[in-house]
Amino acid sequence: MSQTGDILDVKLRGVVKRFGAFEAVAGIDLDVAPGQFVTLLGPSGCGKTTTLRIIGGLERADAGEVMVAGAPVDGDSRHTRMVFQSYALFPHMTVARNVAFGLRMNGLTKPEIETQVDAILASLGLADQAGKYPRQLSGGQQQRVALARALVTRPRVLLLDEPLGALDLKMRRRMQGELKALQRDVGITFIYVTHDQEEAMNLSDVIVVMEKGRIAQVGTPEEIYRRPASAYVADFVGETNLLPGNIAVRPENILLGPSLPAGIARGQGVVRSKAFLGAVTRIDIEMSDGAILVVNSPRALTVAAGDTIPFGWRDEDALILPADNSPRKETL
Ligand SMILES: Nc1ncnc2c1ncn2[C@@H]1O[C@H](COP(=O)(O)OP(=O)(O)OP(=O)(O)O)[C@@H](O)[C@H]1O
Ligand SMILES: [Mg+2]
Repeated sequence: MSQTGDILDVKLRGVVKRFGAFEAVAGIDLDVAPGQFVTLLGPSGCGKTTTLRIIGGLERADAGEVMVAGAPVDGDSRHTRMVFQSYALFPHMTVARNVAFGLRMNGLTKPEIETQVDAILASLGLADQAGKYPRQLSGGQQQRVALARALVTRPRVLLLDEPLGALDLKMRRRMQGELKALQRDVGITFIYVTHDQEEAMNLSDVIVVMEKGRIAQVGTPEEIYRRPASAYVADFVGETNLLPGNIAVRPENILLGPSLPAGIARGQGVVRSKAFLGAVTRIDIEMSDGAILVVNSPRALTVAAGDTIPFGWRDEDALILPADNSPRKETL
């Protein structure tokens, strides 16, 4: 049992935000329990940043209820801190002074500030960077300083808007691992924004898939991947073949070969391309209706472009989607 009992860290009910006539957030309900790593995931413009800014009190909702730590959000809250993609460090202050800033604002004594700054810098592997200025640090180090500055004040909820967006892929992967471990250690609720589904799968306890200002689905990474609530979710989270009859099959679940058992065989198509990608071989197959079936096969296959090949899938691997979905990808 946590000290905070049953109080949700964040609770949104019917939240709407308009810019002129445009609804950037079009009615969102969300519950975030203490200690969760929750990710808002969706394509550019779907309202992720706006939702985060509303939770952080940087933007005021036009309608609905916004509660953080059991109290309505009214402007900047001491319970939330925001970390931005751009880091937003003070360029004329050293790392230590950047991190100390929030504590000085809270009126702590100098020794208290020093102890807390040293501790957070050490826990983020920045102990020997304390005297440097932001311009003397790498992107990954700057991002860690931004995290240290936000975490040192012990907010209840940390809001992170694409915090790894400016880093190269390798540093991004490394920081993903560090962020996850950090969140587990500090036990603070993280609400994280990204449009990168792999990053969301990697980090999150709960993923909130957003579509045009609304929530398309909330679930664990596995739930979202294995039981997408719509064609939109199936297609945004992982690659999916959307087939007639509101069926979707992941590329890794398509079976190929001349001897597929009855019940698995579904048709045949013509191989259009084949590429070796390391862990899998990717094959594009043109079906009789002209649509392309994307296949990721773990086996090295002897097929070549132009070959006709039977394909199929197991019933349990087919995702059955609600009938009211548009059958093809419409975003990104
Ligand atoms: N201050 C503003 N004035 C007018 N329109 C805005 C404003 N802020 C956001 N919008 C619009 O609201 C929509 C949602 O914006 P938001 O920044 O929340 O998207 P996002 O999901 O964070 O996208 P991205 O992945 O590109 O950061 C967009 O269409 C955007 O153009
Ligand atoms: Mg954004």
